[in-house]
Amino acid sequence: MEIKYQGPLRGEITVPGDKSISHRSVLLGALAKGQTQVQGFLAAADCLATINCLRQLGITITIEGTTVLIDGGGPEKLQEPGNILDCGNSGTTARLLLGILAGLPFFSVITGDDSLRRRPMARVTEPLQRMGGRFWGKDDGRFLPIAVKGGRLQPINYRTPVASAQLKSALLLAGLFAEGITTITEPHQSRDHTERMLTAFGAEIWQKDTTVSLTGRPELWGRNISVPGDISSAAFLLVAASIVPGSDLMLRNVGVNPTRTGILDVLQQMGARIKVENSRVLNGEPVADLHVQSADLQGVEVGGALIPRLIDELPVLAVAALFARGRTVVKDAQELRVKETDRIAAVAEEFAKLGAKVLPTDDGFVIEGEQILTGGTADSRGDHRMAMALGIAALRSAAPVKIKNHACVSVSFPDFWQALTKLQQ
Ligand code: S3P
Repeated sequence: MEIKYQGPLRGEITVPGDKSISHRSVLLGALAKGQTQVQGFLAAADCLATINCLRQLGITITIEGTTVLIDGGGPEKLQEPGNILDCGNSGTTARLLLGILAGLPFFSVITGDDSLRRRPMARVTEPLQRMGGRFWGKDDGRFLPIAVKGGRLQPINYRTPVASAQLKSALLLAGLFAEGITTITEPHQSRDHTERMLTAFGAEIWQKDTTVSLTGRPELWGRNISVPGDISSAAFLLVAASIVPGSDLMLRNVGVNPTRTGILDVLQQMGARIKVENSRVLNGEPVADLHVQSADLQGVEVGGALIPRLIDELPVLAVAALFARGRTVVKDAQELRVKETDRIAAVAEEFAKLGAKVLPTDDGFVIEGEQILTGGTADSRGDHRMAMALGIAALRSAAPVKIKNHACVSVSFPDFWQALTKLQQ
């Protein structure tokens, strides 16, 4: 795929549904009694992997465009699958399913693609084992494929070593099967979509600072859910419109849950012209329209509690930093090393192929701004967010950029390349 500057980004767009919320809508719909109807579902590879796994577990799910119907019957309806469950590229599918499978009285095996089979799973299986789940996996249970034999679970009071919504959610989902109160404390607050949606489905959940507690064995009831647009997808366009002079873009119906809006805070701190308009609440999730116009950006320092609030946006934040005035420092982001690819190495090495200088550190990167990109050929390494970040960098390159493995955008933003072209007309 060759990308080159074709003009400022103008007009309006509705970005695809939120990936995290879409996964959770079908998982909770499957665990709840009665029908759940989801509108605005992200019908992209990651969330379709979750649907396929649930179908193999005996749940009837129909998809029509972005509307999904789930016929739940409570956890009893889930049955032993006849074959291995394939989570594809999706860490959320694998880790959240491990939490559910730990509480179900049957045998199952889950696996994923080359990237997912390299990602750490022990952070999830260790506490789940303490709750009573049994796991056998590659390399002493640390990697997929993992076999699970679920059963009676005990509640847990657990302090997580990392701020990870996938880990927290896996334990909360397992906590649904345990009699008593499950409590999880994180080093920093991670995204809270599971908590919000469990509350909407009828569970009893309460939160204080970075500690969340859940009463086990609730009765969950199916309901209607509208999924807002994914701020992680919107982020690519927010950065694009900020760095391409003359841009003026309206992004409609974007989820602005405060556990996800680190990118808005940081871009605004950099001097971006982003207005949050028409704020409203949709099924317990804050939503707004985002109006962005090009601006001169300044470098910024990012670390600590902000990191989990913009973890998926760091590759595209690097693009903003390349064209900002002054230095940008990202630290405390070791988790980038275990994403779909090692995103610290990928950002440093792939942007270098376009003439950029990014200094990788153990837990982030340092970028001196006002760089001139020469263009060239870079590889997404099969990572959707790397592909899109490279695509945005191309808009400010002196010569066209060729992106290898561009099709992986199907994981979270299937129409990304078409949208980028259309917004530049
Ligand atoms: C997600 C949590 C984050 C994020 C991922 C989606 C989720 O991962 O990077 O894209 O839906 O819970 P971690 O839990 O590993 O931080």
